[in-house]
Amino acid sequence: LEPKRDLEALQAPFSPEERTRANRFKHERARRDFITTRAALRLLLGSYLDRPPESVAIGYTERGKPELAGEDGGELQFNVSHSQDIAVLAFTTQSAVGVDIEHIRPDYAREDVARRYFAADEVQTLEGLCEADRITAFYDCWTRKEAYMKACAEGLFMPLDSFSVALAPGDRPCLLRVADQAEAPARWTLSAFDPGEAYAGAVAVEGAVDAVSYCEFDRI
Ligand SMILES: CC(C)(COP(=O)(O)OP(=O)(O)OC[C@H]1O[C@@H](n2cnc3c(N)ncnc32)[C@H](O)[C@@H]1OP(=O)(O)O)[C@@H](O)C(=O)NCCC(=O)NCCS
Repeated sequence: LEPKRDLEALQAPFSPEERTRANRFKHERARRDFITTRAALRLLLGSYLDRPPESVAIGYTERGKPELAGEDGGELQFNVSHSQDIAVLAFTTQSAVGVDIEHIRPDYAREDVARRYFAADEVQTLEGLCEADRITAFYDCWTRKEAYMKACAEGLFMPLDSFSVALAPGDRPCLLRVADQAEAPARWTLSAFDPGEAYAGAVAVEGAVDAVSYCEFDRI
C-alpha cells in the first residue's frame, strides 16, 4: 500500500462517488490505503474486462459488497481486503468470492476475543491447542470466517456463531457447519494463503475450485 504515483494521479479513473469517499477519510493513512487499493482494483478489473479502468462500473449490493454493475455485471466477481501494509484482491469467474487478510497482533489473539467473535465449537478447538499454535489458529479462524462472510456479502449481518470453520494446524481449511444449510460445507471451498510475515489470509469461493493462482505486485 505504498503507492509509486501520487494520490491525485491514482484517482484519475475514479468515479465521482469514489472521489467523494476518498475525500471523506479523516486519517491520511486510511485515505491512502483506500485510494491505492481502489486504483489497483480498477486497473485489474479493466485488464480482465479489456476495458479502460475508468469505464469499469462498480456498484454495491444492499449490504455494501462492491461488485461489477450495469453491463459489466456478469461472470467476473471480486473481493478486496486490506490490513496494515498489504491489500489483497481476489477474482473469480461465475462464483461468489470473499477474501480476508489480517495483520497478526499476538496480544489480540486472546480467549475473551475468541469467545466474542467465534462459535462455541471453534472456541473449544482453539482452547484444546497448545499455546504455541493458538495465535496462528486464532487468525486462521478469523480470516476464514471473514472470507466466508464476505463471499456471502453479508458483512456484519451474519451471526458469527451461525457457522464454523476448521482452524487447527494441519487441518484442511473448510466450512464445518452452517446453520440451516447442511449442504453448505460441501458447496464452499476455503483456502488459506500466506500474504507475508505476520499476516494471515484466506479466500472463500462458492463451488469447487480447480486452482488458486497468486500474483504479487509491489506498487502501482
Ligand atoms: C466490510 C466487512 C465485511 C469487512 O471489513 P474489514 O474486515 O474491516 O475490512 P477488509 O479490509 O477485510 O474488507 C473491506 C473491503 O471489503 C469489501 N466489502 C465491504 N462490504 C462488504 C460486504 N458486505 N461483503 C463483502 N465485502 C465487503 C470492500 O471492498 C471493502 O474495501 P473498500 O471499501 O476499500 O472497497 C465488515 O462488515 C466488517 O467489519 N466485518 C467484521 C466482521 C467481524 O466482526 N469479524 C470478526 C471475526 S470473524
